[in-house]
Amino acid sequence: MNKRLKAVASLVDGKSIIDVGCDHGYLSIYLTNNGIKCLATDISKYCIDKAIHNFKKYNMNIDTKVTDGLNDIDTSLYDTIIISGMGTHTILRILKDKNLTDTLIISSNNNIELLRKELTKLGYYIDNEIYILENNQKYIIIRFKKGNKDYTDLDYKIGPILKNNKDYINDLINEKKCIIDKIPNKDDVKRIELQDIIKELTKLSN
Ligand SMILES: C[S@@+](CC[C@H](N)C(=O)[O-])C[C@H]1O[C@@H](n2cnc3c(N)ncnc32)[C@H](O)[C@@H]1O
Repeated sequence: MNKRLKAVASLVDGKSIIDVGCDHGYLSIYLTNNGIKCLATDISKYCIDKAIHNFKKYNMNIDTKVTDGLNDIDTSLYDTIIISGMGTHTILRILKDKNLTDTLIISSNNNIELLRKELTKLGYYIDNEIYILENNQKYIIIRFKKGNKDYTDLDYKIGPILKNNKDYINDLINEKKCIIDKIPNKDDVKRIELQDIIKELTKLSN
């Protein structure tokens, strides 16, 4: 398993999970090996066949289902839903109008501010957040729990836990500095906007 999936697994604090969009099934294999009951699902039959092939290879008996998101799944049999490696809009569509577990572990490819805002509206708070850098790619994994907490705009944007993570903040600053270097000279508005963001981030990094 790569560093990203190990980080996802490290946030599991329950006994049973639904691995939505399992693809190769590696996460379910790792978690089953650690005594967690897993249901590995994917919208693609090809992916589920790939996962079943891997389960057989490791001599593991893991439940599988081909389905779009959480359709036709009895979520009450599990304590955690995991969705990793999809975009925020797909993730929100999957979660909409479903009977959701008390814990959600989500790693979205994009639009994480929107993800935090929308899951807060759904009645979840951010219990933990992990940031990892793998192959020069940033990944954020968030564990949401049922309940309410108040958040600031900064919490939604950077993360209530990640705003205290100096590695993350420094990587964000470096990313913005690289973007500034590529802005054409005439685009002063964009440059000033980014400089303001860097100033805000620098305050957090001190
Ligand atoms: C980039 S892979 C991520 C695989 C794995 N979860 C991970 O984090 O490495 C995305 C997977 O989600 C599946 N997928 C996409 N949309 C889905 C949906 N609506 N319901 C279930 N699976 C979906 C794809 O078929 C693919 O296997």
